[in-house]
Amino acid sequence: MSTIITFVSQKGGVGKTTSAINLATALAFGGYTSLLIDLDPQGSIRFSMGVKNAVTQGTREIFLSPETALSQLTQTTEQENLSFIFANIDSLADEKTINEVAKDGHFLFDRLQKEATDYDFVVIDAPASTNNMAVNAIYASDLIILPLQCESLAVKSLKRFLRVFNELQKKNDKRTLKLAGILLTMFDRNISIHRKVSKQIYKSLTDSVFETIIPRDKAIVEASALGKSVINYNLNSIGAIAHIRLMNELVDKFNLR
Ligand SMILES: Nc1ncnc2c1ncn2[C@@H]1O[C@H](COP(=O)(O)OP(=O)(O)OP(=O)(O)O)[C@@H](O)[C@H]1O
Ligand SMILES: [Mg+2]
Repeated sequence: MSTIITFVSQKGGVGKTTSAINLATALAFGGYTSLLIDLDPQGSIRFSMGVKNAVTQGTREIFLSPETALSQLTQTTEQENLSFIFANIDSLADEKTINEVAKDGHFLFDRLQKEATDYDFVVIDAPASTNNMAVNAIYASDLIILPLQCESLAVKSLKRFLRVFNELQKKNDKRTLKLAGILLTMFDRNISIHRKVSKQIYKSLTDSVFETIIPRDKAIVEASALGKSVINYNLNSIGAIAHIRLMNELVDKFNLR
């Protein structure tokens, strides 16, 4: 059985895609078979992965072509053990139809439970929203990770999301939703507001926050420009080391070995 982990946040640009790519890569690097699924119509993951074979179908078919097996949508990457399904939601009409299909909050859950059982982990990058696709990602997950930048607006948005998450938890009759943790991202110790906000967050949310912090790292930006994860770009960079630490912390915290 796979462990399904989703990165979500209502606020955009907080590092969801970066952390989803690098956690999935870290898991594969650690010897676990991993499938990364891009549910965000922006489709950033397709530009950030080394693609080996050209599968032209992807997330669109997960929702609109249920007769197409997930295995037909899966692409391999330069990282052994890591596959992905890219987001090919190229028109507004498709996005609208997918959100209609996703009205059944458990559509993705049902597909993954039937078809993604051979992976150790499935990592999902959700859109910055609480639309039907994001709810499908949340309902499909064993564990949710909330990336957060150490800025005061981000903290306000986190509080709002935690309320939404509680509502979704109450509504979900198929499984208990579990918050794996809040992940502080793009942290720069030289910025005083980052130090101040991170202190506040650890004080108020303690166990709900990962000990691992993802630092701001130019290697992450360079890697993404080259279509690579930072782990495959520079294993010694602080960004790569942080994501490997995150993987170890997650696996230990939830006994996922
Ligand atoms: N740790 C980091 N250090 C430096 N740059 C980073 C880091 N994490 C993310 N970035 C950069 O910040 C930008 C936003 O990151 P990312 O795309 O991962 O966020 P997102 O939450 O997925 O955004 P969106 O809501 O638009 O999908 C990107 O340009 C990315 O390269
Ligand atoms: Mg993104």
